[in-house]
Amino acid sequence: PPYSVGYFVGSLASASINRQLAGALIKVAPEDFTFTEIPIRDLPLYSYDYDADYPPVARSFKQAIADVDAVLFVTPEYNRSMPGALKNAIDWGSRPWGENSFTAKPSAVIGASPGAIGTAVAQQNLRSVLSFCNSPQMNAPEAYIQVTPGLIAEDGSITNEGTEAFLRDWMADFLTFVTRVLTVVPQR
Ligand code: FNR
Repeated sequence: PPYSVGYFVGSLASASINRQLAGALIKVAPEDFTFTEIPIRDLPLYSYDYDADYPPVARSFKQAIADVDAVLFVTPEYNRSMPGALKNAIDWGSRPWGENSFTAKPSAVIGASPGAIGTAVAQQNLRSVLSFCNSPQMNAPEAYIQVTPGLIAEDGSITNEGTEAFLRDWMADFLTFVTRVLTVVPQR
């Protein structure tokens, strides 16, 4: 069946290379996937003072996660971790206690950096957080994407054949993973 994927872009920057990567991934994804961005920009900074009465923006954020079959994190590395905006969004999703949006929600993590480490450290960090949030994660293949100028064209096409093939396979593996999780694990 077709599966819906909600994706998070960890960067708020207008020229974000991770936003470019998200666009490129959608282009090479299997047709069995549909994509919706789940925006994180307008969420206030989380505090448990909100737990008793989530603001509308946070309610729709949690609803958006509930509405999709799987989630995809496309994130930069800021100071060897994920950006604060993304961590803030995950904190919102994880609460109120007992209403964690990520439980049993299959996920994958990918990221782009101009540097050769390709967000590896941020992804490791994010994986720990998602583990605690009880999200079944695609462990392999990993994807650490070094984005050099011109690698992703304005229309989202990938100009390097090897990278394009790698990302196409990665998305196909994500579909296999999501299918397996949703077939084996009853949703609750
Ligand atoms: C960075 N950058 C960066 N790069 C990296 O590979 N490891 C890191 O730890 C950091 N740290 C870092 C901190 C902060 C506050 C900024 C603004 C940047 C560089 C970063 O990879 C680069 O700016 C990318 O363009 C960020 O991705 P987006 O925001 O363009 O998607």
